Amino acid sequence: MAVLKPPLKLGVLISGRGSNLQALIDAVRAEAFPAEIALVISNKKDAAGLQRAAEAGIPTKVIDHKAFAGREAFELALDDALRQAGVGLVCLAGFMRVLGAAFVGKWQDKMINIHPSLLPAYPGLDTHRRAIEAGEKYSGCTVHFVWPEVDAGPVILQGKVPVRPGDNEDALAARVLELEHKLYPLAVRIIAEGKARIVDGRVVLDDATGKAVQALLALPGQKV
Ligand code: GRF
Repeated sequence: MAVLKPPLKLGVLISGRGSNLQALIDAVRAEAFPAEIALVISNKKDAAGLQRAAEAGIPTKVIDHKAFAGREAFELALDDALRQAGVGLVCLAGFMRVLGAAFVGKWQDKMINIHPSLLPAYPGLDTHRRAIEAGEKYSGCTVHFVWPEVDAGPVILQGKVPVRPGDNEDALAARVLELEHKLYPLAVRIIAEGKARIVDGRVVLDDATGKAVQALLALPGQKV
């Protein structure tokens, strides 16, 4: 009889709306998804994502950075909560605090982030405005392992969308967000299934996974 691997336990860190959290909630509900959400942590007590988690019956915790003497103490509390919940993969989903090197080191290769640009282009904030102002023809989103520098670390998946003439920030953000909601659960699945390895600071997907992902993320008319 095949021995079933227990699902990977996710800890999702949010600060706000939580639409990517919702995409993960919906994904893990699907049959045979190889991960489950063990805990959602927000550093803001009024984050709308907390409600989404509660509605899905997922344990939540508010860890307000302002209640701690400094970043170190805040991050120790985060680390504690994640470990107590048995988390194996931390998913940053609109978490608006920069994490220090000590915390990042503890979760090395076990923490991922989604960012609304084609990294390394446009790390940081206001990505859509900056992409439009620069006259980019394409933008997109990136899921990457977290390294100490902001919005850096080995890229797991990237998806592209066109920047259309006349796009404003909101229009582009909406187009990118739709893709984010597909890309993040897909990246989690790939990691949970052990199909992504980090080699020399880069993510290598096994052949079949790489091809399947390319086909899935191809723009209309693009040959893969
Ligand atoms: C997303 O655009 C994500 O890429 C970025 O922050 C935003 C969070 O949105 N890191 P939501 O809270 O998941 O709706």
